[in-house]
Order: sequence, then structure tokens, then C-alpha cells
Amino acid sequence: MIITAISGASGSILGIRLIEELLLSGEKITGIVSDSSWQIIGHELSWKKEGPEPLKTFLKKRGMVSSLENFQEYANNDFFSPAASGSSSFDAVVVIPCSMKTLSAISHGYADNLITRTCDVALKEGRRCIVVPRETPLSVIHLENMLKAAKSGVQIVPPSPGFYTLPESVEDIVNFIVGKVLHLLGKKHHLFKAWGEIKV
Ligand SMILES: Cc1cc2nc3c(=O)[nH]c(=O)nc-3n(C[C@H](O)[C@H](O)[C@H](O)COP(=O)(O)O)c2cc1C
Repeated sequence: MIITAISGASGSILGIRLIEELLLSGEKITGIVSDSSWQIIGHELSWKKEGPEPLKTFLKKRGMVSSLENFQEYANNDFFSPAASGSSSFDAVVVIPCSMKTLSAISHGYADNLITRTCDVALKEGRRCIVVPRETPLSVIHLENMLKAAKSGVQIVPPSPGFYTLPESVEDIVNFIVGKVLHLLGKKHHLFKAWGEIKV
């Protein structure tokens, strides 16, 4: 089971696409979206938060995944979610995209919401924690927080496209970054061609 968290950085489509790809691969997913991210989803993806399970409602509306049976959603203030405890058995947490605020909280163990608590749990339990930090340019504070997180075992995957794949659309760029995360999670995918498969 993989926890996929979407925090309030630009690029919420990355988190949405990762959830869709993981569900398509048959993985069980818990989704968490921060309040700020809902604002960004409104702006970048023209979708207004609605209903008691707003992420599920959005995934249904997008229609990329036929069954949401393997999908569960928790509010970011719900510490009664299994993910909030080390006694639960999730395999990995991915924060995609990850805001600088959430990065700061993860690197300092400041677990004041379910996203940061889940990362805290993953690190203390020795489970995989991947973050996709989005900001530019990066300040010394951002860089130090990334280093601190990396030293604690967090895998940092900046949303930087590989232009060697010759992307033709935003979708290609999104697929590249989501593919990189899937690769780290050990999932096969066809979102981009590996270097050896590209005709040069
Ligand atoms: C449209 C929009 C885009 C934003 N993009 C970023 C971003 O790329 N990186 C970032 O660190 N913060 C960004 N922010 C600011 C964060 O949303 C803000 O710091 C928030 O407190 C993060 O909270 P969260 O990490 O709990 O979601 C953005 C805010 C808005 C409204």
C-alpha cells in the first residue's frame, strides 16, 4: 500500500497522475490532499473541492481509472487514519508535489498534519519516503531542508524533465516525472522511454 500525498505546491497534476498510474498497476492507495493544494487544484486543474471524499470525486470525474476499489482517502487533519501510526503497514509515502513548507516540516519532524505525520512514521519505521519538491529558485533554507531530509533517508525527486526524451507536450513532461517516481517504487511503466530505447 502506498500513501500518495499532494501538498500545496504548483504541479498538483503530478500527484493526481501518480495516483492514477498506481491504481492502474493494481496498487492499493491512500490519498491525502492539503488545504492549500485544493486551492491549487482549483486554479491549475479547474476543479473545486466537493463532497465528503473530494479526491475520489475528482478521480471519478477524470475517468482515467475504471475502479476506485483500491483507493482510500483521508483528510489532512485526520490522525485517526491508519497512516498516522507505525503499526499500519504501508510500504511507502510519496509527497508529490511537495511544498517548501511541507518539506521543512518533514525534514524537522514537525508532524502537525497527516501528510507530515505519515512521513515522520515512514522515517522512524525505515520505510520509503519520496518527495517531489517544487519551487524555483531555491533558497539556502530550501536546499538545507532537502539535504537534511535526504540525510534522514528521504528520496528527493525534483520535478525536472529530462529533455533528452524530446517531450512534445506538458503531458510528456508530467509522464516523465511520474515515471521517475514509479521507477523508484519499483513499478514497471510505459510513461517514457529509457535512454537506451530512444532513437538517436
Ligand atoms: C497557486 C499557488 C501556487 C503555489 N506554488 C507553490 C510552489 O510551487 N512551491 C511552494 O513551496 N509553495 C507554493 N505555494 C504556497 C504554498 O501553497 C503555501 O506555502 C502553503 O502554506 C503550503 O501548505 P501545505 O504544504 O500544507 O500544502 C503556492 C500557492 C499557490 C496559491
